[in-house]
Amino acid sequence: MNSEQLSSRLQSVSDFIIQYGQNPIRLADIGTDHAYLPSYLVQQDKIEFAIAGDVVKGPFESAVNEVKSQGLTDQISVRLGDGLEVIQAEDNINTISICGMGGTLIRNIIESGKNHLPDTHLLVLQPNIGEPGLREWLSDNQYKIFDETVIIDGRHDYEIIVAETTSDTIPITYEEKLFGPVNLVKRTNEFYLKWERDLAHRERIYNQIKQADQPNSDKLQELEQAMTAIKEVLERGTH
Ligand SMILES: C[S@@+](CC[C@H](N)C(=O)[O-])C[C@H]1O[C@@H](n2cnc3c(N)ncnc32)[C@H](O)[C@@H]1O
Repeated sequence: MNSEQLSSRLQSVSDFIIQYGQNPIRLADIGTDHAYLPSYLVQQDKIEFAIAGDVVKGPFESAVNEVKSQGLTDQISVRLGDGLEVIQAEDNINTISICGMGGTLIRNIIESGKNHLPDTHLLVLQPNIGEPGLREWLSDNQYKIFDETVIIDGRHDYEIIVAETTSDTIPITYEEKLFGPVNLVKRTNEFYLKWERDLAHRERIYNQIKQADQPNSDKLQELEQAMTAIKEVLERGTH
């Protein structure tokens, strides 16, 4: 992967930014690592400006090198800092991407950096794990999830969640948290593949816990609830 050829995961994030970003798109890519995503979007002439932020020196330096070597220093400002603190009001950021980390970390980054965000903004999030907790947080914090997708890349799967600020609190059900409110409507082939694999994985864990001398009954109950919901969704599928 490089800034000219993104992975299918980052390509999909990029497509969402282009599809839903308010023109002119001014992006903050938080946890940017090599800055491939903002570099690609600037090279494609899809965004006006980007902040490429990272809290760790190594990734920050990789981003600095990438942006310099691609000749993009006028449009991309690479900044070292924790989460959203790299964004200043005068940057006029309207779109934020946070990709390739756990859902809890993504949630904490938005929560603790809220005062750096404009009133209206688009979030394009790609959690590696912890999607239900992230969706619950978005719902509790007046964000509306209005698009999602599941990406399969070999043995890995990734979810992308697109949300925008709203004045209402949008309640979210257990199933919507687990599968995603939009994924449940779209029901792509990738969605079914992800949940078939997930069910098999949960069943293995469930059987292992059951065989323990003192099985953790809370964990078993939690797994049973999820497995029942997943089986229902898979049975309703027509793939
Ligand atoms: C696995 S990389 C993902 C890189 C890129 N976003 C992607 O999806 O390919 C996660 C990056 O997030 C950065 N990171 C973790 N916590 C952060 C925080 N609180 N603020 C900014 N960056 C953070 C890490 O240093 C790392 O470079």
